[in-house]
Amino acid sequence: MHAPQNYTAPAGALENKVILVTGAGDGIGKVAALTYAKFGATVILLGKTTNKLTAVYDEIVAAGHPEPAIVPLDLKGATKKHYQDMAATIQAEFGRLDGVLHNAGLLGVLTPFEHIDLPTWQDIMQVNVTGPMLLSQALLPLLKQNKNAAMIFTSSGVGRKGRAFWGPYAVSKFATEGLMEIIADEYDNTGVRVNCINPGATRTSMRAKAYPGEDPQTLKTPADLMWLYLYLMSDDSIGITGQSLDAQAK
Ligand SMILES: NC(=O)c1ccc[n+]([C@@H]2O[C@H](COP(=O)([O-])OP(=O)(O)OC[C@H]3O[C@@H](n4cnc5c(N)ncnc54)[C@H](OP(=O)(O)O)[C@@H]3O)[C@@H](O)[C@H]2O)c1
Repeated sequence: MHAPQNYTAPAGALENKVILVTGAGDGIGKVAALTYAKFGATVILLGKTTNKLTAVYDEIVAAGHPEPAIVPLDLKGATKKHYQDMAATIQAEFGRLDGVLHNAGLLGVLTPFEHIDLPTWQDIMQVNVTGPMLLSQALLPLLKQNKNAAMIFTSSGVGRKGRAFWGPYAVSKFATEGLMEIIADEYDNTGVRVNCINPGATRTSMRAKAYPGEDPQTLKTPADLMWLYLYLMSDDSIGITGQSLDAQAK
């Protein structure tokens, strides 16, 4: 299946929706949060660094979009109870949840396989796989209450074809693809659709860390990818589930 590459979200495509974005303070997640708000959503901004989240909050409010909420949370240290408490707060404050974008991610360091150290491996698995798994477990009961809801995971090219030196990050993205497929299959016909986006090479600090010699001006920006982030989050993608799609296909 291919997403419609000529997709343009109508104004108000996300009106009345409550959408949680992880890693909303920087990079692709920041632009996704601003974009979702622009299209009418109330966005719950989850991230590690509070002042980055506050800056996004201020930008959304200054633009006159629905007032967002901030959830400072480090996916590295968060326990099952943190996620369950957060779900209860969302239920109490908003009474609904329409979408989740699992975007936060940790690259770690690129290194020869024999040099991968266990703490780094575990941190990357915690942030990229275990955190999103626990967050999904906590939020699916809320998402299921809706007629239609969307969950989006963030994959990578190295989550589909392994590459030398990308060790734990690549393995975590293979796991992300698997997590998406399992939840999509299990929640088929519940109204919750679950898909992956592979952003592809994108002008962010993570990409600059992975490719320090590259000219960032040659790369697409997060804004260039938003057609797919909007498509999969809006009701225009109802019926699409279990897919892993490329944001650079346009
Ligand atoms: N850029 C690319 O070329 C590319 C390509 C393929 C896939 N991706 C994927 O796309 C997603 C976004 O990447 P990006 O390029 O936008 O990266 P980025 O600029 O490094 O942003 C990553 C975001 O994740 C947050 N984050 C990191 N560790 C966290 C933790 N422990 N708890 C909570 N939040 C945490 C960061 O928060 P702080 O800023 O507070 O640390 C930041 O907001 C990632 O899943 C990445 O793997 C990116």
